Amino acid sequence: MQLALAPLQTYTDYHFRNAHLAVFSGVDKFYAPYLKLNNDGTIKSAPKIDILPKNNPTISVIPQLMACSVEEFFVMADYIESLGYQEVNWNMGCPYPMVTNRNLGAGILNKPQEIFGMLDRIIPKSKLKLGIKMRMGLESTEEILEILPKLNDYPLTEIIIHARYAKQLYNGTCDHERFRECISLTKHSLTYNGDITTREEFEELSRQFQTIDSWMIGRGAMMNPGLFEEIKFGVVDSSEVYRNKLMSFSRHLEESLLSCNPDRGYALSKLKSYWEYLCEGLSDGKQLYRKLKKAKAVEDFNAFITEML
Ligand SMILES: Cc1cc2nc3c(=O)[nH]c(=O)nc-3n(C[C@H](O)[C@H](O)[C@H](O)COP(=O)(O)O)c2cc1C
Repeated sequence: MQLALAPLQTYTDYHFRNAHLAVFSGVDKFYAPYLKLNNDGTIKSAPKIDILPKNNPTISVIPQLMACSVEEFFVMADYIESLGYQEVNWNMGCPYPMVTNRNLGAGILNKPQEIFGMLDRIIPKSKLKLGIKMRMGLESTEEILEILPKLNDYPLTEIIIHARYAKQLYNGTCDHERFRECISLTKHSLTYNGDITTREEFEELSRQFQTIDSWMIGRGAMMNPGLFEEIKFGVVDSSEVYRNKLMSFSRHLEESLLSCNPDRGYALSKLKSYWEYLCEGLSDGKQLYRKLKKAKAVEDFNAFITEML
């Protein structure tokens, strides 16, 4: 079984990935949040820095990009290749209208001919292996039924499916019946993604999709970074052990944040954003987060965590 940490823009950055690797286990693959171009055609700097090899010394990361033209694709793919990576993931999943209106992310899913046209030009030229992470459609999950059979003609490393359509954003439920149809329509290695937040949910899905051996988890891992080891090794830490791990995880995050930017205000605001998710996974998390939000300095923040955990 392969477990992957999903890319979550501003959350699963190299601080999070390295801290996760130091304290928890069970992740086989880490995906970096997408690279995107600025209006002037240069690559946005935060995701560019995120995939620098020096920031990812011990983990194998798969970078991701979001592009609506072949030219855009290669601006980012060339940069990724220049850093020594061998594979890139193409984002066809971002659901927000500001993105989809420009044919980016899931905006291309209702125009299959554009997908195939781009692949026809990208594949012969690209030195990077290519995988795709996609929603099941822009307006409905039916759209994927036209796309998947034709993707069999291309040499892709994998297809990761977040089992929703884009207009749903993160609302409603995943469409498991449609995902089942997808299994028979693709010859590519297929990864299931969407709403796995507990080991029990994972087990139910793996009963439903017995041929699926590859799973990606995002928000569930932000709420409980121990979820991968719970799923993989069947071990659930006692509350005390888990809370100690969380404190150690937070210390790793803090050290990493401060070493990239000595501005303690920046570190504090990032720690608050990670802990907003982490608190959701704790029985007394609401109370803890109310307190953490009020911290004015990293020192107060740590004191609150030690006191509450
Ligand atoms: C805050 C946030 C940021 C995200 N950023 C990305 C991204 O950069 N690239 C991507 O492919 N998906 C992104 N996603 C989608 C996740 O990777 C994942 O597909 C989705 O959250 C469903 O999986 P989950 O239910 O396990 O979280 C993002 C999701 C959230 C909530």
